[in-house]
Amino acid sequence: MVMEKTDWSALGFDYRKTDVNARYTFTDGKWSEMEITEDEYIRMHMSASCLHYGIELFEGLKAFRGVDGKVRLFRVEDNARRLQSSAERLCLPVPTIDMIVDACIEVVKRNERHIPPYGTGASLYLRPVMFGTTVGLGVKPAKDALLIVYCSPVGAYFKSGIKPMPVAIDREQDRAAPRGTGDVKVGGNYAASLLSGEKGHSLGYSNIMYLDAAEHKYIEECGACNFFGIKEGKYITPKSPSVLPSITNKSLRQLARDMGLEVEDRRIPVEELPTFEECGGCGTAAVITPIGKIFDMQTNAVYEYGSEVGKVSMELYTRLQDIQYGRAEDIHGWCTIVM
Ligand code: PLP
Ligand code: COI
Repeated sequence: MVMEKTDWSALGFDYRKTDVNARYTFTDGKWSEMEITEDEYIRMHMSASCLHYGIELFEGLKAFRGVDGKVRLFRVEDNARRLQSSAERLCLPVPTIDMIVDACIEVVKRNERHIPPYGTGASLYLRPVMFGTTVGLGVKPAKDALLIVYCSPVGAYFKSGIKPMPVAIDREQDRAAPRGTGDVKVGGNYAASLLSGEKGHSLGYSNIMYLDAAEHKYIEECGACNFFGIKEGKYITPKSPSVLPSITNKSLRQLARDMGLEVEDRRIPVEELPTFEECGGCGTAAVITPIGKIFDMQTNAVYEYGSEVGKVSMELYTRLQDIQYGRAEDIHGWCTIVM
């Protein structure tokens, strides 16, 4: 069978078909029971609200096969809560935490043969996705919705893995406006980031660093990652209403405290960049990806952090993955053991 030939260590971050996905539909003011299906497709009306007005949101989380053979879902309830806040922001029906968590657990269990073995560096990525399906033409909230949870085995998001990546600052397009939707995980934010992302890629940069849209003075996010900088025994990360509250970043802040670092959650002006000893991007897909170089596309300034992973970033990465793969005690209660 195809699965027996999988070279798990060579997986990138891409969709691969698995066995089943879980779905809930919202119609007539109520949610259906969970449905498990092998179908990868959905049949939808051409005038469904998600297609025209971007009434769509998603989540991303991972399940890991641990050193002890157990399968752990990382911080699934935090993802469920963030999904709820995205649904509220888009005036979509809000599923319960239990519905989301149950679907994630069910999808992991029923796709067990697709969970990458321990030691391959790969994991099972879960993608809850939800959208409005009401047929209409006017701009108004959807009364009907579909929530799907599916999964795909994945390897590293950035081809460079834990090797430092080059990123570029762009002020020509913003990702998210103050009081816009930057703090929730909705598809429109990603659509808005594509043009600058492509510009960065064409110049050889892995990712775009966005600045705050109001003043273009402060660091916001780094593509689909939060940003962090390390200096003088501190873990520093941007505080902004238009940054996605990353669950990885929240975990790293805790791990940084555990390591005796001070944690600062505050605005970070671009001028502070040369003072960082290490910096990186963090997220479910990217885990920690150190930043080796930052190029400012408008001022031509270059900030260099070296071609090796910094000591603090490496320790944070190791501590995080040790918990995810069951090599260290889960003292903060972040993992749900699925089986
Ligand atoms: N920022 C953006 C824009 C993202 O898409 C993601 C990925 O989910 C993150 C940050 C990291 O968030 P998390 O750690 O919850 O995956
Ligand atoms: C994640 O880290 O889960 C993300 O959402 C990144 C994704 C947009 C590819």
